[in-house]
Amino acid sequence: MSNHIESVLIEDRVFNPKKNNIKDNNFFIKDLDVYKSLCLESENDYKSFWKKYALDFLIWHKLFTNVLDESEAPHYKWFTDGEMNVSFNCLDVNLTNGNKHKTAIIFESDDGKVEKISYIELFTRVCKFANGLKKLGYCSGDRCIIYMPMSIEVVVAMQACARLGIIISVVFGGFSSKSLHERIVDIGASLVITADSQKRGGKYIPLKVAVDDAIEMGGCESIKNIIVYKRSDKCVSWDIDRDLWMSDVEDTQSEYCEPTFVNSEHPLFILYTSGSTGKPKGVQHSSAGYLLWSKMSMNWTFNASDSDVFWCTADIGWITGHTYISYAPLALGMTQVIFEGIPTYPDSGRFWKMISDHKVTVFYTAPTAIRSLIKSSSSDQEVHPKNFDLSSLRIIGSVGEAINPETWLWYYKNVGREKCSVVDTWWQTETGGHMITPIPGVTPLKPGSCTLPLPGISASVVDETGEDVLPGKGGFLVIKRPWPGMIRNIWNDSERFKSSYFPEELRGYYLAGDGAQKDNDNYFWILGRIDDVLNVSGHRLGTMEIESALVSHELVSEAAVVGRPDITTGEAVVAFVVLKDKQPEGEEAIKIAKQLRDWVAKEIGPIAKPKDIRFGDNLPKTRSGKIMRRLLRLTANGEQITQDISTVENIHVLKSLSTVL
Ligand code: WTA
Repeated sequence: MSNHIESVLIEDRVFNPKKNNIKDNNFFIKDLDVYKSLCLESENDYKSFWKKYALDFLIWHKLFTNVLDESEAPHYKWFTDGEMNVSFNCLDVNLTNGNKHKTAIIFESDDGKVEKISYIELFTRVCKFANGLKKLGYCSGDRCIIYMPMSIEVVVAMQACARLGIIISVVFGGFSSKSLHERIVDIGASLVITADSQKRGGKYIPLKVAVDDAIEMGGCESIKNIIVYKRSDKCVSWDIDRDLWMSDVEDTQSEYCEPTFVNSEHPLFILYTSGSTGKPKGVQHSSAGYLLWSKMSMNWTFNASDSDVFWCTADIGWITGHTYISYAPLALGMTQVIFEGIPTYPDSGRFWKMISDHKVTVFYTAPTAIRSLIKSSSSDQEVHPKNFDLSSLRIIGSVGEAINPETWLWYYKNVGREKCSVVDTWWQTETGGHMITPIPGVTPLKPGSCTLPLPGISASVVDETGEDVLPGKGGFLVIKRPWPGMIRNIWNDSERFKSSYFPEELRGYYLAGDGAQKDNDNYFWILGRIDDVLNVSGHRLGTMEIESALVSHELVSEAAVVGRPDITTGEAVVAFVVLKDKQPEGEEAIKIAKQLRDWVAKEIGPIAKPKDIRFGDNLPKTRSGKIMRRLLRLTANGEQITQDISTVENIHVLKSLSTVL
């Protein structure tokens, strides 16, 4: 691990919270005094704090007597002797509290068709499907891979498994058969639930065939059935002894299925995420603690209320789609939008049109989506958010990477119309829910900072010995005490779990893997992954800072910064840049590269000046929009790419990014 991270770019504008569009809600943190007293309460009596919320937020089949069992730390166990069921807490509870006929999901397909489903209808579908699974012999503890498009059916599948205690692993629909195969084998799945295809951007993309291919790779003998949701009229190959249509599994079943009550610590799901090695880690989450933290964080960060129409644009294959689509909004009885397609189809006004059509009140998306929409609306005024009625919005959120101040401001002004709180939420697959985030209407906002930890979350910035660093100094972001929503294990790899997240030298703190710094107001600024830290002439710089500086230049749309070895400076900064205008060439490119270097020197300091600048018309990204920095690092070093690149959406862009200026 590197010693410390230097930080030099801090935004100092403060935006005071707008209270007028915040709703009353029993558990909401109404002002900073309440926030401070809750933080204090959790510090003084940690177990009572969590016990109170566990009793208030969850319906228990068998009440727990032990709040936290630390005997096998860092494998912490929460509410150990309690029993509950996640699906019961998401669905059954809404049948008796006035939400029975409320719309649970507004589904909009790629081609714009809208389908709504109420809580009672969703409950019935989940019960019928769960009964069908039961009849096939599936039960608590079995493992199931879900490989499906954004749909009502994926929620039905996830909830039905939870109802029976079947442990799921959702694999993003954009992943290849090789990734599917790896995951089927790693969890020993007996069931796969998929679709014939998915529709994105006007095209059908086959899914079932990838499952067939994965199984043909061998070693998948554990698989008994593939259940297929029929999304299109396309033909798929069929094994009559193994394959079943989802509708046939569901159809003749009874409309009530008794939930299987499970122990609090029963794994709800395993979600694979990339680590510092090539092999993805199967992040294992619990049932009770995870659902508790999902609900609490949803309630605080999004000020959840009965009248909301919530829309999280994340794919169900990521943690954001789990926590803030499949579980928390349902557990809170909210109405939510689920969207099958992509933000740029049929044009880049799609998000804004959907917010207007469905009167979305809370909108949650990723900075990369915002940046690409900034780019399209600067060249095509027709798709600019100013042309749409976004007056229903009251809170707008961001997740997945740091939102640079320029993008934050554009989002705040053009989407939030300066009346919505922007919640820049820092969290991870491993944390289960939001950790460091503003509370809307309460926390003063600083563009680019995810602000303050939620109550109960003891976040801190420490040095390599675990000692707190002073404000203004960079260090490792850690969480000092366990919390109910935390990762429980890496599936089948306890040693990797311990060494990745709880290295001995850090005194048992949870190591997030991000560099961060606090400012004088104790606000957190995320500086990027520890492994993205560059060391240039002995100065350590977070790559995100340089990216942020580049993106704040008026010509730049997107930028990614990586390091490459350099004989004199140790590491050199390499910047991959996409301009708002078309990709420059020749003299023009040299001129702009110089302007950008001078700009970075001015914004941060000459030390951060990119040695190489490479222009492209896009950056290589995963289908969820994350920039593939590992590929960029290889490109920056002029190396051959030999790793699996099946998750890269736009691999062709690497070619245009290989010209060095
Ligand atoms: C990054 C996504 C800065 C961070 C929920 C983290 C962020 C990783 C933010 C987790 C944010 C996420 N500001 N960086 N608001 N949110 N990150 O597991 O590096 O897909 O460690 O979970 O994304 O990504 P993951």
